[in-house]
Amino acid sequence: MDINSLLKKGVEIIGERKYGNPQLEATLVLSKLLGVDKVYIYTHGKEKVSPSVKEKFIKLMEKRATGYPIQYILKEKEFMGLDFYIEEGVLVPRPDTEILVEYILNYIDEKYKNEPINFLDLGFGSGAIALSIAYYRRNVNVYGVDIGDIPLKVGYINKDRFKLDNVKLYKGDLFQGIEGLGLEGKFHIIASNPPYIPIEDIEMLQTEVKYEPLDALAGGEDGLDYYRNIIPKAKDYLCPQGLLIFEIGYDQGKRIKNILIEEGYKNIQILKDLQGLDRVILGIME
Ligand SMILES: C[S@@+](CC[C@H](N)C(=O)[O-])C[C@H]1O[C@@H](n2cnc3c(N)ncnc32)[C@H](O)[C@@H]1O
Repeated sequence: MDINSLLKKGVEIIGERKYGNPQLEATLVLSKLLGVDKVYIYTHGKEKVSPSVKEKFIKLMEKRATGYPIQYILKEKEFMGLDFYIEEGVLVPRPDTEILVEYILNYIDEKYKNEPINFLDLGFGSGAIALSIAYYRRNVNVYGVDIGDIPLKVGYINKDRFKLDNVKLYKGDLFQGIEGLGLEGKFHIIASNPPYIPIEDIEMLQTEVKYEPLDALAGGEDGLDYYRNIIPKAKDYLCPQGLLIFEIGYDQGKRIKNILIEEGYKNIQILKDLQGLDRVILGIME
């Protein structure tokens, strides 16, 4: 079978889906299996494909047809202009999270240009937030904590991929992961995109999200468990005037703002995403 016919078959298999781009997805999967780029696929339509590649391709298309995320098949996701290695067991980085990263990058430039500062990411997953900060701001010492074995493995793969020597990753339960390292009062910025989906909403999620780890999604009964946990404890780890910044759910801004106020944070701001929905909240420790 040639490349064009195989692509056509792939599109037939996954084409019934209501979302995604079957033609592009089939092309990307086949180019990955053949070890070539997209342009090669477009320009070599008549080239024959081996039976073993054909078999693997069909199996992957059938898997994709069940809703299995394309990023787990391709083992890659672009975030902040960097190609992160991704596998099942870590959250697929979302474009919305770039709002949080861009805010932090600008904040560093305005407040700490070229100063050697400390940054902590709680729940780093693939390393999307932590490693983007480390990559684009070499003056920052980046620390990351995640509770999962797969995030730890994937985080290190990406740290090596981007050749970063300003990053330390730890396994643990939030601040417990950096306990005993003498880092209390040392962080200029603490960031987190914690699990924030209310447990009863998990069932209603798009099929693809159901393949992502529950540990990365479920934030307790009302989705706010991690904010209630992190906001008071962060005060022990932030330096004076330190920034605490979170990604949040679209309807959680007001409630998280109240927790920040109760805990004494100042200059609280909520940032919106492109759809005009609450996406990021931040506050300064006095
Ligand atoms: C929503 S994901 C965010 C991943 C990544 N930071 C991103 O933005 O793509 C939340 C992450 O928090 C981690 N996590 C969940 N509970 C945790 C805990 N108690 N301590 C540390 N990490 C935790 C999960 O393993 C997951 O990787």
